[in-house]
Amino acid sequence: MNFPTLKNDIFLRALMREPVPYTPMWMMRQAGRYLPEYNETRARAGSFMALAQNREYACEVTLQPLHRYKLDAAILFSDILTIPHAMGLGLDFVAGEGPRFEYPLRSEDDVRKLAVPDMDRLQYVFDAVTLIRHELDGRVPLIGFAGSPWTIGCYMVEGQSSSDYRLIKTMLYARPDLLHRILQVNTEATIQYLNAQIQAGAQAVMIFDSWGGVLADGAFQEFSLAYTKKVVDGLVREREGRKVPVIVFTKGGALWAEEIAAIGADAMGLDWTAGLGKIRRQVGDSVALQGNLDPHVLFAPEATIRAEARRVIDDFGTVGKGGHVFNLGHGISRFTPPEAVLALVDEVHTYSRRMHTE
Ligand code: CP3
Repeated sequence: MNFPTLKNDIFLRALMREPVPYTPMWMMRQAGRYLPEYNETRARAGSFMALAQNREYACEVTLQPLHRYKLDAAILFSDILTIPHAMGLGLDFVAGEGPRFEYPLRSEDDVRKLAVPDMDRLQYVFDAVTLIRHELDGRVPLIGFAGSPWTIGCYMVEGQSSSDYRLIKTMLYARPDLLHRILQVNTEATIQYLNAQIQAGAQAVMIFDSWGGVLADGAFQEFSLAYTKKVVDGLVREREGRKVPVIVFTKGGALWAEEIAAIGADAMGLDWTAGLGKIRRQVGDSVALQGNLDPHVLFAPEATIRAEARRVIDDFGTVGKGGHVFNLGHGISRFTPPEAVLALVDEVHTYSRRMHTE
C-alpha cells in the first residue's frame, strides 16, 4: 500500500513528545451535526449506519471539517458501536434518541453466546480508512478509533444510552463473572479491530473510554482500566516506518490520571474537569496530554473563546517541546455555530506559535 507522503506531522510529533512549532489541534466529533454539509450528506445516505457503512460517504464527511478549518488531524468517520453491531446485536440509530440495540445482553445465555466477530464484517471500516488516507493526500494524519471494552459493554448490556447504568452495574456487582466474560470478548475484538485499522492506514489510534468515569474507585481499575491496558498491550505500534501513537481518553478520569498514564499509551485525553498543568505535575512527561477545552466555551463571544483557548495552552505550560495536542474535553455540541470553530483554530495556532518563538 503506497500512501501519499505526510506533509503535516505536527500532531504525531506532539503525541510522541517531540519538538513542534505550534500546538496542533483537532476536535472530538469534528465531523458531525453542527456542520450543515454533514446533515446534507447524512440525509442523502438515509441513516447514520448507511453513512458509516459506505466508504465514499464516510470519506466525504471525514474530510468536511478539514475543508473549513486548518485542523492538524482527521478522524475516521465511524462509531464505537460498529463492533457490537458486527457481533449481531442489531444496532439502529433512532433519530433524536441515539443508539439502540435490538438484542442487548440480558441473560447468562446471551453472554455465553457472545463471540469475537469475524473482521470481514467490519471490512467497510477498513476500506474507509484506506480511501480516506488516499483522499487526504498527505495533508494531515488519520486517526483510527474504538471504544474501550467497558464503554461498548455499557451499550451492549443497557441496549441504549443510560443515565444511571443500572443494568450493567447490577451485573458488575451481582454477576461479575458474566461482565468479565463480556469485557474479555470485547478486548479481543477491539485489538483485532484497531490493528486492522492500522493495517489499513490509520496513523494514530484513540480508545474512547467515555463511561469509565461512572465507575467507583476500584471498579474502574478492575472493569475498565485493566481491559483498556490489555488492548494497548495488543496493538501494533509501528507502521510505514513510523510510530503509531495510542491515545486513551477516559471521560471523568482525571482522578485516576496517574494510573491511566501508567498503562503504556503514548497520550492521555482529558475532559475539562482538571487543569492540564495540574495533571502534568502528577504524571510528569511520561505521556502526552490531549484536551481539554469545555465544548460549551464555543457558545461564548469570540473574545472569550480566544481567551479560554489561551488559558488551556498556558495551563499546559510549554509549547516547543511537544506533549500537548489541543482538543475539546468531549465531543463538539451539535448546536455549535461553525464560525466559532474558526476563531478557536486560529487562536490555538497563532497564540501557541507566538508563545513558542518568544
Ligand atoms: O468526528 C468524529 O469524532 C468521528 C466520528 C465519531 C462518531 N462517534 C460519529 C457519530 C466518533 C469518534 C464517535 C465515538 C462515539 N460514539 C463515542 C465515544 C466518544 C464520546 O462522545 O464519548 C460514543 C459514546 C458513541 C456512541 C454514540 N454514537 C452515541 C451515544 C450517539 C448518539 C448521541 C449523539 O451524540 O448524537 C452516536 C451517534 C453518532 N456518532 C453521531 C456522530 C456524528 C450523531 C448521529 C447522527 O448523525 O445521527
